Amino acid sequence: MDFIVPLFGRFHPILVHLPIGFLLFGVLMVFLSKEKDSGHSQSIQLAFFVGSVSAVLASISGFLQYHYEGFSWETVQFHLALGALTTVTGFYLTWDFRKTVNWTSFRWKSFSLLVLLLFTGHLGGNITHGEEYLTELLPDGLRRLLGDSTDAEQGLTLPESGWEDLKYYENVVQPILNSNCKSCHNPRNKKGELDLSTLEGLKKGGENGVVFHANDAEKSELFSRLVLPSDDDDHMPPKEKRQPQKEEIELIKLWLETGASFEGTLGEARPAVKLLDPFFERLEVPFYPQTELAEVSADSIAALKKMGFFVEPVHLGSALLKVSCLNFPDFEDADLSKLSSLGGNLAYLDLNDTQISGEILSQITAFPNLTVLKLNSTLIEGKDLATLQQSPNLKHLYLNGTQINPEDLAALESLPALEKVYAYDTPLSGNPAVKKFRFSLETGGYSLPPIPSDTIVY
Ligand code: HEC
Repeated sequence: MDFIVPLFGRFHPILVHLPIGFLLFGVLMVFLSKEKDSGHSQSIQLAFFVGSVSAVLASISGFLQYHYEGFSWETVQFHLALGALTTVTGFYLTWDFRKTVNWTSFRWKSFSLLVLLLFTGHLGGNITHGEEYLTELLPDGLRRLLGDSTDAEQGLTLPESGWEDLKYYENVVQPILNSNCKSCHNPRNKKGELDLSTLEGLKKGGENGVVFHANDAEKSELFSRLVLPSDDDDHMPPKEKRQPQKEEIELIKLWLETGASFEGTLGEARPAVKLLDPFFERLEVPFYPQTELAEVSADSIAALKKMGFFVEPVHLGSALLKVSCLNFPDFEDADLSKLSSLGGNLAYLDLNDTQISGEILSQITAFPNLTVLKLNSTLIEGKDLATLQQSPNLKHLYLNGTQINPEDLAALESLPALEKVYAYDTPLSGNPAVKKFRFSLETGGYSLPPIPSDTIVY
C-alpha cells in the first residue's frame, strides 16, 4: 500500500482546481452582492467553506508531491507558503462572514483572497510548465518587454585561436545541449526524467537509464535520437521544435566516439575545421591577416600530409593554412624546409613536442603571415626568441614546458602584433620577478605558500 500516499501527491494538479473554482465563485458572489443580506449569504458561506476545505486537500497533496517527486525547496517554497496563506484566508473569511457588519471591508478582504489565489496559481503553473510557458509564443519584442530572455541560450561559440585547449565537454557539448535540449531537459522540466543542463544530470540519464556510452555513438541515445527520421516518435528534439545544426550533431558524435571524456580537450579529439567553422567567433578585427593569397594546390597539401603533417585551412574557404606536427614527432630543424613552399599561406604552425632547436626560429621569418606559433615542450631557449622579431603578424606564442627565463621575454616586446604568450610550466611560473609586458603573459604560476607537510619524507 506504499503507493497510496505518493499517488495522492500526484492528484495535486487536479485537486488545486477545486479551491480555485469554489473560492473564485465565492469572491464573485461577494462582488455581485450589494450588501451582506442580498439573499446569497448561504452560497457565499458554502463556497468559502468548501473552497477552504479543498484548499487543505490541495495543500497536503502538494506537499506530498514536493516530497516524493524531487522538486527542490527553492522552486516550491513561495508557492507552498502562498497556498497555505490562501487556505487560512479562506477559513478566516468563512468565519468572518457571519459577524461582519462592514460590507465594504469584507469586499476588500475577499479581493485580497482573489489576489492570493492568482499568485499561488501562477507560481504553481511556473513549476509545472516552466516560467516562460505563456510568453514563449509571443513575438520577441513583446517577450523582451515582459522581461523574458529571448536569446535564452547563446549556444556554441569558439575562438579562432586557442580552441584546441578548451575542454570538449564543458565548452562544446554542454553549450550545444543548452541551446537545443535544455528547454525540455532541465531540473524543473525534466522530460523523460532527463536533465541535460548539468554534467550530473547527463551522467544520471533518463527514465530508461544512461543516455551515452563512451566510444559508441550509435548506442548512445544522446546521439542516436538526433539522427532518427524526424517523424519518428523518438526523434529529438521533437520535430516541431528548432533542430540542431548538422555540425552540432557531428560534434556530439565525435565527443562520444573519442571517449566521452569530461576532462579531454577539443584539440585531442581532432575535429575537422568544417565542424568548427560555423561556430568561430568572427571578430570585428579578424584574427588572421586579411590577404589575397592564392590557395595552395591540393597536390601540395596531399604531399605534405603524406610526409606526416596535419594540414587544413584555418577556416573554411581561407587560403591560410594550419599545419601541425602532432603525428611527426621526429620533426627537426631541417624539416622546416619541407614547408617552405607554403610561404605566406602558413598562418598557424604547431611544433609542440618536436625535436627542434632554437636555430629554427631564425627561419620562421619565411612565413610572413604566421599568426600562431606553438613551441610547447621543445628545447627552445630564451636567447633564441630574439630572432623571432621578424614576425610581423605573430599574435599567439606558446612556450609551455620550455626553459624560458623572465629576462628572455623582453626580446618579444618589439613584435608588433604579439598579444599573448603562454608559458605554463616554465621557470616563469609563479616567479615574482616577472614584470609586466606589452603582451599578456599566461604562466599559470600561482605559487602556494609552503606548508609543513611539504617537507615530510615518507
Ligand atoms: C520540446 C521538448 C524537447 C526538447 C527540446 C528535447 N527533448 Fe528530449 N525528450 C522530450 C520528451 C517529451 C521526452 C520523453 C518522451 C520520449 O522518451 O521520447 C524526451 C526524451 C528524451 C530522451 C530519452 C530519455 C529516456 O531515458 O527515456 C533523450 C535521450 C532525449 N530526450 C534527448 C534529447 C536531446 C539530446 C535533446 C537536444 C538535442 C532533446 N532531447 C531535446 C522532449 C524534448
